[in-house]
Order: sequence, then structure tokens, then C-alpha cells
Amino acid sequence: MLDKANLKIGENSYEFPLIKGTEDEVAIDIKSLRGATNGVITIDPGFKNTGSCESAITFLDGEKGILRYRGYPIEQLAEKAVFLEVAYALIFGNLPTSEQLDKFHTDIKSKSVVDDDVKKILDAFPKTAHPMGILSSLTSALTAFNPSSVNVDSEEDMYRAIVKILGKFPVLVAWTMRKKQGLPLNYGSKSLGYVENIMKMMFEQPNEDYEINTIVKDALDKLLILHADHEQNCSTSTVRIVGSSHAGLFASLSAGISALWGPLHGGANQAVLEMLEAIKEDGGDTKKYMAKAKDKNDSFRLMGFGHRVYKNFDPRAKIIKKAADEVLNSLGVDDPILEIAKGLEKEALKDPYFVDRKLYPNVDFYSGIIYRAMGIPVEMFTVMFALGRLPGWIAQWKEMRLNKEPIGRPRQIYTGQTERSFTSIENR
Ligand code: ACO
Repeated sequence: MLDKANLKIGENSYEFPLIKGTEDEVAIDIKSLRGATNGVITIDPGFKNTGSCESAITFLDGEKGILRYRGYPIEQLAEKAVFLEVAYALIFGNLPTSEQLDKFHTDIKSKSVVDDDVKKILDAFPKTAHPMGILSSLTSALTAFNPSSVNVDSEEDMYRAIVKILGKFPVLVAWTMRKKQGLPLNYGSKSLGYVENIMKMMFEQPNEDYEINTIVKDALDKLLILHADHEQNCSTSTVRIVGSSHAGLFASLSAGISALWGPLHGGANQAVLEMLEAIKEDGGDTKKYMAKAKDKNDSFRLMGFGHRVYKNFDPRAKIIKKAADEVLNSLGVDDPILEIAKGLEKEALKDPYFVDRKLYPNVDFYSGIIYRAMGIPVEMFTVMFALGRLPGWIAQWKEMRLNKEPIGRPRQIYTGQTERSFTSIENR
């Protein structure tokens, strides 16, 4: 029976237990390593082989292209569920009954008003500020406007903090976009569904009634669901590690937003669109850019390709590619960028460089095309990702606190100067 791992260091042998997950994933439990070996640690930059926690939220198998939230396959959720149901399942463990969902939505709506003084902070940002910087700052500012800390041992307290952020965050997202567009800040309507209300808050013009386009609404629901969680990625790990110091939920989320901003993570959806635009401006020569991506002396990467975990196909990319076709067709948008994207994908899928390295399109390769068709500015794409990821971050933060995980504090191997004496400035 496979239940132990043996490690030999010099003459000494050590035994470590194995931990097995419900999907038969195996980890060597090295909690006792440093103590048992008199100071030996493991090193794993980028944590490519390191599990930071045990988690019951999301399962993904990068080799088989499987993604499930709380056991529910992403394909079924994207097809049949709405975003708020998925958020509930991620945060509380199971899909809600209709009563649970109604109550959840009502509670979220009751907490959705943002202190009007937050507008003053928003006003202070220059028009040129990136929306992700604004969103991260405003989310952090919510801590100041809601100073009482969450007692994680109280279910009621925890629930209140969760509905509060789910209510206020979309308002911050919409205001961030509207401020940049010079539009008045609004509040949507309590009579609408969660995603419908997000659309109204984002897109409503001051001089006309806003009508929900159901194609756009369905596509947005789908996009938010596809982005809702992805286990221990960079931003989620950030949320968990910041929260592990017992920093509050809003502060932890604000840190997660900053982590998501980077072009190697959530910022990729903006980078993809900018790359596709640049290729179009340059005459649409996809082969030239394929060659650049493969050239080790060129820092250019094919944005939207490759994934730390998916070494087969990102299941979200499949769903999103189909959705992009549907949305563009039904909205009657003829976007040449989509053709360039399809061309790049086709070439990459048969190019040995990409095939050998198992580089497939990821979720963000097509999401920007849909966002653009919806009328969302490129700079807002990563904000939309954050909006989708919010329930995942909340669920992961909650799990981390309820599991009473210790503060995240990695070790290092020191490679600097060994001890040397101070020399006074005139003798240096
Ligand atoms: N274009 C060209 N080459 C690539 C790409 C790419 N997009 N991605 C990886 N490679 C190459 C690397 O140069 C490396 O080649 P080598 O073995 O010859 O040195 C090899 O593939 C492995 O790449 P790593 O960077 O080691 O893979 P890692 O797992 O660390 O990185 C990442 C994954 C960051 C996603 C990477 O593929 C990348 O930069 N992709 C583009 C950015 C992107 O789309 N990010 C979004 C990720 S999805 C998300 O966050 C929602």
C-alpha cells in the first residue's frame, strides 16, 4: 500500500506520510522535514511542485482538461447555471435551493450601497489610471468604511462580510468604468438579477432607458462562471496568504486584485487583445508573430497561450471559443480580430514548438473578443476577470480561515555574503 515516502540524505533515511485527495492526487507530507533533518528544507520556485493547502473547493486536472467547482463540471455549470448560483456553491459547498438563492440575493442587495464618500476617492484618480489600480484601491478602502473586523468563528459575521462584498464590488467595478468614461455614477436596480444589474450599472446611459440584451447577459453569466475559481493560482494564493496573517477579507481581496493585474495572469486578456490589434495593424501576418514567439532572443510571447496547470487543453477555452462565435454572430459583429485569433490558434496547434511544450489557448485567448463585442473597454477586461473571480477568492479565504491555517511564511536558501565586518564610509 502506497502510504509513505522515503528520503535519503547522506547516511540518514527519513519517512514521510503521503496524503491522498478524493480524486487520488498524492502529496508527500513534509511538515516534519525541517525538524527531523536538522534544518533541511525543499526549494521550489514558482511552487510548481508544491501544494500550499488542502482544499475542497475546485478540482482541476491539467492533463485531462478537467475543471470542477465543488464537484460540478464546468461545462454543466456554464451551460445550465447562473453566476450567483455558482458563487453560492463555491462559497457554501452546494448549489442553492431556490429559497436559499433568493435569500442570498436579497441579502446581497440589502448590502450593496457604497458609502458616498468612496466617490471622493474615485474622483481623486487621474482619468489615465488603470482600472485595476483603482479597483484594488477602492476595495482596500472598503475596509476603512467598514472597520469592524470579521469574527470568523461567527457564521453570521462571516455571512455578513460575504454578502457585503458581493453587493458592493460590482458597484465599484461599474463606477470604475463609468468614471473613466465620464458617465454619472449610478446604482442599477434592486428588481434585477445579479448579472442583469451589473450590466445596467455598467452600460446604462444617462439619457436613455437601458434594455437588457439576453444574448449579452447569457454570455456575461458564462464568462463570470468560467472565471469564478481556479484553485491555487497566483491571485488566489495571494488572497489566502494575505488572509493568513488575519488581515481582513477586503484587504485580502485587494491584494488578490493586484496579483491578478499582471499580464502573466489576469492581465493576459488585455494583453491578448492588444497583441491581436498589433498583429492586425501590422498587416495580419500571423506567421511573423508565431516566429517571434518561438525566438528565444525575442521576449514576445503569444499571449493567451500556455498555462501553468493545463498541459492538454483549457476546458474553459473550448466553452469560450463557442460563446465568442455565438455572441459575435447574434450581435452581428464582424470582428477581424476573431479571424486573426482563429488563425493563430490553428497554426499553433500544429506547430512543434507549441505542441512539444503543450501550449494551448487558455481562457483569456477568446474572452477579450467577447468583452469587446459587449462594448467593454480593453482596460476593463481584467476588471471583468476580477468580478468573476470574486466568489472564488471569497470561498478560498473562508476555507483558509475556517481550517485555521497557519500564517504563510515560506523559507529560503540564503545565497548572499557570509558574515563580514562593517567598514566606515571613508574606508570603503
Ligand atoms: N508563447 C511562447 N512561448 C511560451 C509561451 C507563450 N505564450 N508560454 C510558455 N512558453 C514557452 C516558454 O518560453 C518555455 O520554453 P522553454 O522550455 O524553451 O524555455 C516553455 O514554454 C515553458 O514555459 P514556462 O514559462 O516555464 O511555463 P509556466 O508554466 O511557468 O508559465 C504561463 C505559464 C505564465 C501562463 C505562460 O505560458 C505564459 O506566459 N503565457 C502567456 C501569458 C498568458 O496567457 N497568461 C494567462 C494564463 S491563464 C490565467 O492566468 C487565467
